[in-house]
Amino acid sequence: MTRTVIRGGLVITATEEVEADVLVVDEQVAALGTPELAEQWLPGADAVLDAEGLYVIPGGVDGHTHMEMPFGGTSSADTFETGTRAAAWGGTTTIIDFAIQSIGGSAPEGLDTWHAKAEGNCAVDYGFHLILSDVHDGSLAELDGLVGEGVTSFKLFMAYPGVFYSDDGRILRAMQRAAGNGALTMVHAENGIAIDVLVQQALAAGRTDPREHGRVRHPLLEAEATHRAIQLARVAGAPLYVVHVSAAEALDELVRARDTGIPVFGETCPQYLFLTVDELSRPGFEGAKYVCSTPLRPEEHQRELWRGLRTDDLSVVATDHCPFCFASQKELGIGDFSKIPNGMPGVEHRLDLLHQGVVDGRLTRRRWVELASTTPARMFGLHPRKGTIAPGSDADVVLYDPRAEHVLSAGTHHMNVDYNPYEGRTVTGAVRTVLSRGRVILDGGEYRGRPGHGRFLRRDTCGYLT
Ligand code: URP
Ligand code: ZN
Ligand code: ZN
Ligand code: ZN
Repeated sequence: MTRTVIRGGLVITATEEVEADVLVVDEQVAALGTPELAEQWLPGADAVLDAEGLYVIPGGVDGHTHMEMPFGGTSSADTFETGTRAAAWGGTTTIIDFAIQSIGGSAPEGLDTWHAKAEGNCAVDYGFHLILSDVHDGSLAELDGLVGEGVTSFKLFMAYPGVFYSDDGRILRAMQRAAGNGALTMVHAENGIAIDVLVQQALAAGRTDPREHGRVRHPLLEAEATHRAIQLARVAGAPLYVVHVSAAEALDELVRARDTGIPVFGETCPQYLFLTVDELSRPGFEGAKYVCSTPLRPEEHQRELWRGLRTDDLSVVATDHCPFCFASQKELGIGDFSKIPNGMPGVEHRLDLLHQGVVDGRLTRRRWVELASTTPARMFGLHPRKGTIAPGSDADVVLYDPRAEHVLSAGTHHMNVDYNPYEGRTVTGAVRTVLSRGRVILDGGEYRGRPGHGRFLRRDTCGYLT
């Protein structure tokens, strides 16, 4: 038995803040207690971590990553090994990545392929959603089995015709299946058919540079698809999770639905909270670094997203971490912006960036923990094992220094990508120590994790709805 005592910190969960010491026994939190009680824990302790002046928070749960994902004629640059290590550096102790059912392939085959990529390589615990790109009787039937194996959420795309795209009939059928088996349907809500028309028109007019990416992926085409996804989910009687919401008009659709009590949830990502569409106009093709879908938006959208995070119109902040190197991968789109691999790195910076909302008073500390850890854990069937610090929960714990400043940079980050979208930005707050299932994997700037420590998580169905 290994006993670790975390002393003197401020324990913050989604529901309370208490000055308490934490006893970790083996892989789990055993108790929270007063300093007097904790005195009794010390004689048998194998390690004592000093958290004086630090926050003690549940490890981050990033519900949206793409490690080594084939996409856009290449593959995202982080492997499960490098990507989960970077996650750990940033205080994220659980990722949920997307296995892909390829067109013509089965859902279990897709899942097996992703298990093979991840197993033995992850520094932190991981789960899978399934990207369903070929909806038919066979693949729909396979979904029930996947739910039984702990893959309890599926992503469908209204964007990317010819790649992951499903038409409305297929999406409706998948949602009907989810209504029956308890899975959560995630939707990439952009009208891909209309966007492709605008792409072809832009290219025909000789408009080929990265800034066109922001023009053709119009906010109203995100709003329209969001509206449609919501109505399809209502017809199917299924809950809906809209990924990477970036447009204020799309958020309006979520607000309207949520106000009538429908189980519809929205996710946004740090890039939409901190970066704007102006980045796409950087000189020398540098705008390609900021190509992701949904795209970055004008600044006024950010205000609405922050408001949505405060008011719970948006429920989760995930990263959509999908890194492509500038030099060797983003350049595939020189001369044709539609060939720039879509995606941005971010798995390492989510907690720090969201913490800026606490620093400047836009979020409370508890809401910060809720958005980054507790709600994604509940939404994806991992709570209370993940997402909180309570007796019996996994000892995924971060000691966070709220006052330390550091600069985000490709020179110092741990993601396997040659640029940092936040290059040179100073953030207030820093991860000091990370425990993953009771093991210290990061402490005082020293990485102590190892590939294979992270385990596959069999998830329950959505905790909010059961
Ligand atoms: O640009 C993005 N978001 N790339 C990853 C794939 C997706 O649509 O989530
Ligand atoms: Zn997407
Ligand atoms: Zn994604
Ligand atoms: Zn950091």
